[in-house]
Amino acid sequence: MTLNIDLVENSFNLIKHDAVKFSASFYKKLFAYHPELLPLFENTDLAAQEKKLIVSLEIIVENLRNPETLSMALKSLGAYHQKVGTMKEHYPFVGQALVETFAEYLGDKWDADTHQAWLDAYSLISEIMLEGAKNPEAYLGGELTFYEWLYLYGESSPEVRRELANITHFKYRDQEASN
Ligand code: HEM
Repeated sequence: MTLNIDLVENSFNLIKHDAVKFSASFYKKLFAYHPELLPLFENTDLAAQEKKLIVSLEIIVENLRNPETLSMALKSLGAYHQKVGTMKEHYPFVGQALVETFAEYLGDKWDADTHQAWLDAYSLISEIMLEGAKNPEAYLGGELTFYEWLYLYGESSPEVRRELANITHFKYRDQEASN
């Protein structure tokens, strides 16, 4: 599979101005199709989560050309997801809701090639997250978080770095709670 990074970047740029609304529409779809996922989010501040999801997607897209750091970051994110109860079977549900949200927001700019580019990108992202999920202890604890990997070693725009710092403080939710 050759990932068409240009198409992923260009389509992401088209939703940036509406990013948090996009994220809210994504969760609405996800929970409408898969209400069985709701218990995983029962202690979640959804407004905060909408921001985290979109900033994380943005920083992932910005680092698709920086695969080594992205891979370390995604393994950590996958390990964290394992800890909060996410299972392998859930990943296609998120992928489906994501591409449908893109289709809705992009209208006639969502074409077959862009759709394929996102399917490829999502499958790559999920595979790496799931590698991390297989061995969570190795990627959590003393390791850097997803956010720290990309902040320290990623190639991200100053705006995204700023948002990341403000929204996440570089920690996962349960780390914040226990600190
Ligand atoms: C491309 C794939 C995904 C990305 C980029 C992503 C991104 C994120 C991010 C950035 C967080 C916040 C972590 C934190 O700082 O605390 C998070 C939390 C979470 N995600 Fe995902 N996620 C993905 C896939 C999934 C899947 C497949 C599920 C399954 C339902 C899922 C369920 C959750 C849950 C339950 C949380 C915890 C929410 C909380 O803090 O209460 N995610 N995700």
